[in-house]
Amino acid sequence: MITYKHEPFTDFSKEENKQAFKAGLDLVESYLGKDYPLVIGGEKITTDEKIVSINPANKEEIVGRVSKADRELAQQAMDSALAAFESWKKVKPEIRADVLFKAAAIIRRRKHEFSALLVKEAGKPWNEADADTAEGIDFLEYYGRQMLELKDGKKVESRPGEYNRYDYIPLGVGVIISPWNFAFAIMAGTTVAAIVSGNTVLLKPASTTPVIAAKFVEVMEEAGLPKGVLNYIPGSGSEVGDFLVDHPKTRFISFTGSREVGTRIYERAAIVNEGQIWLKRVIAEMGGKDTIVVDKEADLELAAQSIVRSAFGFSGQKCSACSRAVIVEDVYDEVLNRAVELTKELTIGDPADQNNFMGPVNDQNAFDKIMKYIEIGKGEGELMIGGEGDDSKGYFIKPTIFAGLAPEARLMQEEIFGPVVAFAKAKDFTEALEIANNTEYGLTGAVITNNRMNMEKAREEFHVGNLYFNRGCTGAIVGYQPFGGFNMSGTDSKAGGPDYLLLHMQAKTTSEML
Ligand code: NAD
Ligand code: ALA
Repeated sequence: MITYKHEPFTDFSKEENKQAFKAGLDLVESYLGKDYPLVIGGEKITTDEKIVSINPANKEEIVGRVSKADRELAQQAMDSALAAFESWKKVKPEIRADVLFKAAAIIRRRKHEFSALLVKEAGKPWNEADADTAEGIDFLEYYGRQMLELKDGKKVESRPGEYNRYDYIPLGVGVIISPWNFAFAIMAGTTVAAIVSGNTVLLKPASTTPVIAAKFVEVMEEAGLPKGVLNYIPGSGSEVGDFLVDHPKTRFISFTGSREVGTRIYERAAIVNEGQIWLKRVIAEMGGKDTIVVDKEADLELAAQSIVRSAFGFSGQKCSACSRAVIVEDVYDEVLNRAVELTKELTIGDPADQNNFMGPVNDQNAFDKIMKYIEIGKGEGELMIGGEGDDSKGYFIKPTIFAGLAPEARLMQEEIFGPVVAFAKAKDFTEALEIANNTEYGLTGAVITNNRMNMEKAREEFHVGNLYFNRGCTGAIVGYQPFGGFNMSGTDSKAGGPDYLLLHMQAKTTSEML
C-alpha cells in the first residue's frame, strides 16, 4: 500500500492542463440539463417532482433535473439501508476500503470532468473546483487507509488466563446531510467515512448541488459498492431532512451546514422516538466567523495577501473564510490600504473563464442575504471597496471590505458567507486576540507575526479548531490539517483526521477465559 499523500493541485499555467480542463468543460456542457433518478436499494427511481439545478453564473442554464424524494421514498430508502446493513457490516474492512480506493482511481481519471461540473453547478473558479475534487479524492484514499489501521481494533491488556480484545463495530444506518459549498468533497467525504466503517447510508445532498452527488453515486456503484449501502435521496431539508432525523431507525446523523440547521438537527436527534432503542449520534460541522490577526511585527505584504485570498477565494463561501481582519493599530492603515489595492485587481465573472478570480454566489437567497449584510455594514463601518451586486444574469457580488468595525458589530459577529470582510483595529496583540475570540464560533483563524512569543500566546489562547501561522485561514488538507471547529462551529469532528472514523463506530470489549 502506497503511503498516503494528498492529491496534487493542477498547475493551470501549463497549456496541456488548460486544454484538459477545457475538455472537461466541453464534456459537462454535452450533458447539461439531463435528468437524474433517485437510487434506492440500487433501483433507479424517477419522480414527477424535480429539483432543478441551475448554473449560478447563468440562471438560464439548467445543469440537471434531479428526482425528488418525499417521506414515502425516504422510508423506502431507510428499509433498503436497514436490509443492506445486515450484510455490509460483515464485509471485511479490507474489501470496504478497496471500494474507496477504486472510486478514488475512477474519479482521478475523470478529475477535470468532476471539477468542470463544480464550475457549472457550484460556480467555482477552476482552481477552487480543482481543490474540491482533489479533497474528495483525498477523503477516499485517507479514510480507506484509516479503516485498515482500525480493522483489528486497539490493544488492551490481558491478565494470565484471560484474552481481552477491543474491536470497533459499525453503528447502523446513517443519514448524511451535506452542504453546497464543498459540493463534492464534503458530500463524498462524509458519505464514505460512514460506509467504510461498515454502515449503510441515506445521502441527502444540498438542493442547489445534487448533480455532482448523482455522479458520485454512479462512481461508487462502478467501484463495486453493493446495492442498498448508499441510497441517494435528494429532497427538501424540512420534509425529508426532518423525517429522517426523527426516524427511530436512524442510528447517526452526519451533518455539515449552517449553525441554524445543525442546531435544529442536534435538538431533534436528542428526542427518543417510539421504537428507538439507542441514543442517536450526531456529527454536526457548522459555520464560522473566522479571523486573521495581524501583529505589528509581521510581514505586512503576506498579511494583506492572506486576508484577501482567504476572504474572497470562492467568493468567501467557505466555512473557513476570513470574515474578520483584526490588525494591531501600528500597522492597521498599511495592511488595510494594501488589502484594498489587492482587491481592486481581482476579476469577477463567469467561472468557466479561467481568468476570473471570483464567480457568483450560490443562489438568490445567498445574494439577498449578503446584500442585506452589505447594507448593515454601511451603517456599522466604512465601505472601502465593493458593496455592489448584480443578479440580472447570475448572482455576482463584488469583493467588499469594510473598515473600522467595533468588536460587537453584526458584521463582526454573524456569519455572512459571502465576499465581505470586516477590518477592526486593536491597540495591541493581546486585545487583537480578545477581539478574535469574541465570537460564538471557533472554526479557523490565522496569525501573521514574526514574534515567537506572540505566536505561542496565540497557540494557547486563540480558541479555534484550526489555527494557522503566517498563512491564510482556508485550505485545510485531508490527513495533514484535520478540520473541525469549537463552540458553535460544531462537534469538532476533525474531518480528514485520525479520529474521524471512530465517530461512525462503537467499541466492543470481549473477554475470554483461557
Ligand atoms: P444549510 O444548513 O442551509 O444546508 C445544509 C444541508 O442541510 C442541506 O443539504 C440542506 O438541504 C439540509 N437541511 C436544511 N434544512 C434541514 C432540516 N430541517 N433537516 C435536515 N436537513 C436540512 O447550509 P448550506 O447553506 O448548504 O451550507 C453553508 C453552511 O455550511 C455555512 O454555515 C458554512 O459555514 C457551513 N459549512 C461548514 C463546514 C464545516 O466543516 N464546519 C463546511 C462547509 C460548510
Ligand atoms: N477544507 C476547507 C478549508 O479548509 C473547508 O477551507
